[in-house]
Amino acid sequence: MTLNNTRDDWWKQAVVYQIYPRSFKDVNGDGIGDIAGITEKMDYLTSLGIDAIWLSPFYPSELADGGYDVIDYRNVDPRLGTMDDFDKMVEAAHKAGIKVIVDIVPNHTSDKHRFFKEALKAGRGSAARDRYVFREGRGKNGELPPNDWQSLFGGPAWERVNDGQWYFHIFAKEQPDVNWKNPDIHEEFKKTFRFWSDHGTDGFRIDVAHGLAKDFDSKSLEELGREYTVQDQTNHDGLNPMWDRPEVHDIYKEWRQVFNEYNPPRFAVAEAWVRPDHQHLYASPDELGQVFNFEFAKANWDVDEMRTAVTEGLQSAKESGGSTSTWVMSNHDIPRNASRYGLPQVKAHTQHQIATDWILRNGTTYIENRELGTRRARAAAMLEFGLPGSVYIYQGEELGLFEVPNIPWDRLEDPTPFRTLRNFTEKGRDGCRVPLPWTASDEPRPASWDKDFGEGASFGFSPATRQDGSASADPHLPQPLWFKDFAADKEATDPDSMLNFYSKLLKNRAQLLTATGDHDSIDMLDMGHDVIAYSRPAADADGHSFVNITNFGAAPVALPANATQLMASADLDADGKLLQDASVWLLATK
Ligand code: GLC
Ligand code: CA
Repeated sequence: MTLNNTRDDWWKQAVVYQIYPRSFKDVNGDGIGDIAGITEKMDYLTSLGIDAIWLSPFYPSELADGGYDVIDYRNVDPRLGTMDDFDKMVEAAHKAGIKVIVDIVPNHTSDKHRFFKEALKAGRGSAARDRYVFREGRGKNGELPPNDWQSLFGGPAWERVNDGQWYFHIFAKEQPDVNWKNPDIHEEFKKTFRFWSDHGTDGFRIDVAHGLAKDFDSKSLEELGREYTVQDQTNHDGLNPMWDRPEVHDIYKEWRQVFNEYNPPRFAVAEAWVRPDHQHLYASPDELGQVFNFEFAKANWDVDEMRTAVTEGLQSAKESGGSTSTWVMSNHDIPRNASRYGLPQVKAHTQHQIATDWILRNGTTYIENRELGTRRARAAAMLEFGLPGSVYIYQGEELGLFEVPNIPWDRLEDPTPFRTLRNFTEKGRDGCRVPLPWTASDEPRPASWDKDFGEGASFGFSPATRQDGSASADPHLPQPLWFKDFAADKEATDPDSMLNFYSKLLKNRAQLLTATGDHDSIDMLDMGHDVIAYSRPAADADGHSFVNITNFGAAPVALPANATQLMASADLDADGKLLQDASVWLLATK
C-alpha cells in the first residue's frame, strides 16, 4: 500500500492487481479458486506492494463466458463461496490497506438471469421482453435474423426463441444484451452499485463500457460499408451502430450520481476498446472517472509503438479533465506479455495474431524465446510503472508466467474457440487463465493424458486434501509441469526472480510518487530514436528528479552523469552502458 491510499482520489496512482478468482487460490479443494482463497493470500498481496485488487466476476454464472454471463449480480457463486466470505475478504483487504474493485457486466446478463427467464415466458410485446432486444426476423416466415450484425465471438448476433422472435447478443448466445432504454435496467444496476458499495467495495470495473448504447434502427452492416465490422471496435467515429455511441455517456452520468452518494465517492474504470482520442470521454469526472488504455497491451516490443502508447495515454488523461493515465500490459483476455515479447515481433499491431496463431498450433509455429521475453517484460514494467497514473497488473504477471499454449482442446473452457465462425480457428483465452502455482514442492505427476501437464497435485493451488480427508480435485484448467519454476514460494527465495523484481519496483515506485501523479509531471527526454526516456519530479526533499531510460536499440546507451541508479532490469555493460531491451531507474540532481 502507498500513502496515497488514504486519499479520496487513491485510484489516481493506484497499483491495481487483477484477480481471476477461479484461478487464484482454492481453499476447499474442489479445484476452483474461491473468495476465501483471496483472503488467505492477503499477506502475499500486501508484501507485493499493491494498492487495490480487482476481482473478475465471481457471481452465480453458468460459465458460458468465464463468469461474464451473470445470473445474479448481487450474490456470490456458491462454488466460490458466500456473501459472508466476501465480507470477510473485504475486511481483510481493508485491514491491509488494500481497496477492493468488483467487475460489473452491464451490457448483457446470463440467459439464466431472472429477467431473461421472465422475458421468454412473457412473450412478444411484453414489458419483460422490453428489458432485452427482441425483434421479428426477416424473410417470409421471419426465419432470417433481423439484420446482419455479427457476434464478437463469431456467428450471427441473433438467436431465435421458440415463439419465433429473435434476441440480440453481441457476445455468446447465453449472453443476451439488455436494453438500456428500459428503466428497469437502470434501476437494476443502480441497485447493484449500491449493494456492493454497502458491502464495502471501493470501486467498479465496467465491462464493455463502449457497447451499452446501440442503434437498432441503423442500416445493415453491408449498407454501412466494410469498415463497420463488429470486430473492428476501435476505429470509429461515434457513428458505428454498436460501439462507442454518444448516448452511452448519459448512462455514466447517471451512475456518477450513485457513486457520489458515497464517501469517498466510489471509483469506476471503463473497459472501452475505443480509439485513443475517444478514451477520455469515458474517464471524465462526471462519468466513470478512469478508462483502460490498452495501447501497451496491443503494442509489439517496438520503440515506435511503445512511444505512441505513452504519448496517447498521457494525452487522453489530459483531455479527460481530472483523470489519470492507466498502463495495462496484460489481462485475462490477452496472451501473457512475457510470451508476447518472446515471440517474433511483426509491425503494425499484428502481435496478437502472432500469439493467437502460435497458441492455435499448440505453441509450435514460432519459437518462444523465453529469456528474451522475460528480459523485455522486466524492461516494460520499468517503463510503465514509472509513468504518471495508475498501473494494472494481471495475476501471474508478477511471477513472469508465460502463456500455456498447448492446453488440449477438450480441456478448454473459453467459448470463443467453438463459435460458429471461429470454429477451431482460435484456441481462445484459457492459456492465461491457468490456476497459479504457489508452492514448488506440491508437484503434480505427469498426467496420464499428456505428459506436459500435471495431475494429482497442483503446486499449492488447492490443498492436498479436502475437509473430509479426500484428495482435492485437479485444477479446473490443467497446469503445465514447467509451472514449478514459477511457483511463488520458489520465486520468493530467489533474488533474481520476477516476483522480487516486481516487489522492489513497486516499493521504489511508492517512494517516488508525488502527491498527484499528474500527467503533466513528466518531461520526455530525447536520447535518440531507439530510446524512450523521461524524467519526473521525485518525492524526496532533495529536489531530485527521477529518470527512466529504456533502450530498444542494439547500440548500448550511456547514462547521464550526476545520477545514481535505483534499479535496473538487467546488468549494464562493462562501460556502465544500458544494453538493448533493458531499462533503468535513476535519481538525478536537477
Ligand atoms: C469483456 C471481458 C471478457 C468478456 C467480455 C464479455 O471484454 O473482459 O472477458 O468475454 O467482456 O463480457
Ligand atoms: Ca474452491
